[in-house]
Amino acid sequence: MSSTETLPLAATATASLAPALVERRRSIRKLADGDLPPRAITAITHAIERSPASMGTTPWRIVLLQDRRDEFWALVEQAFRDNLAGEQLDRYLARLDGFRRAGLVALVYEDLAVRETLESKGIPAEMAVDFNLQGLGIVQHAIWLTATEQGLGASLQHWNAMLEQPLAAFTGLDLARYRLVAQMPIGIPDEVPGPRNPDREPGWILDPAPAAR
Ligand SMILES: Cc1cc2nc3c(=O)[nH]c(=O)nc-3n(C[C@H](O)[C@H](O)[C@H](O)COP(=O)(O)O)c2cc1C
Repeated sequence: MSSTETLPLAATATASLAPALVERRRSIRKLADGDLPPRAITAITHAIERSPASMGTTPWRIVLLQDRRDEFWALVEQAFRDNLAGEQLDRYLARLDGFRRAGLVALVYEDLAVRETLESKGIPAEMAVDFNLQGLGIVQHAIWLTATEQGLGASLQHWNAMLEQPLAAFTGLDLARYRLVAQMPIGIPDEVPGPRNPDREPGWILDPAPAAR
């Protein structure tokens, strides 16, 4: 009997699905028009709810925009026009055409109050910041992989400095507590990503040799 035969069905399914999803996930910046099926939204909200964070906290607030997405993109375009000029503005606006057809936009905020919660539980301040940021990375990856699994394309954008203020009235989130960290346009893919960077550092070491003394 192979070792996988001893695993429960759910565990074997996960074992084969996860590497394929990691392989399929890419940055898809050009999206096609279209609403997302409700099952995709449900899968994404489930992924957010199941994402792990330190000590059972929720260091993120993910604002999902479906019906209000046109309003959002109008704010983004205005922010670009208010903050950029010339060739840079043209480049940002050209890219915006690929994003604004997204059926769903996830705005990722950090809940700064969670840093204080962690500190109140004895976590040093610097580590509380790390834990929050690690949680934010994990939830973004969960959203990205879930979108991929649903046959959708997504990317991570960072128009934070230009958008945080204009978005405050739009979301109603108090900026003293919530810090904008990323925007994820999610939708029907309308591009085939190029090959991955072959020169990228692999980023892992197996059984490192001890330093010579
Ligand atoms: C933390 C982080 C920040 C990123 N910021 C941006 C960004 O601001 N704009 C963008 O288009 N892509 C952004 N990316 C996407 C990376 O450029 C992309 O993941 C990388 O080039 C590998 O390509 P792939 O996603 O297709 O595998 C970001 C990715 C990560 C993980």
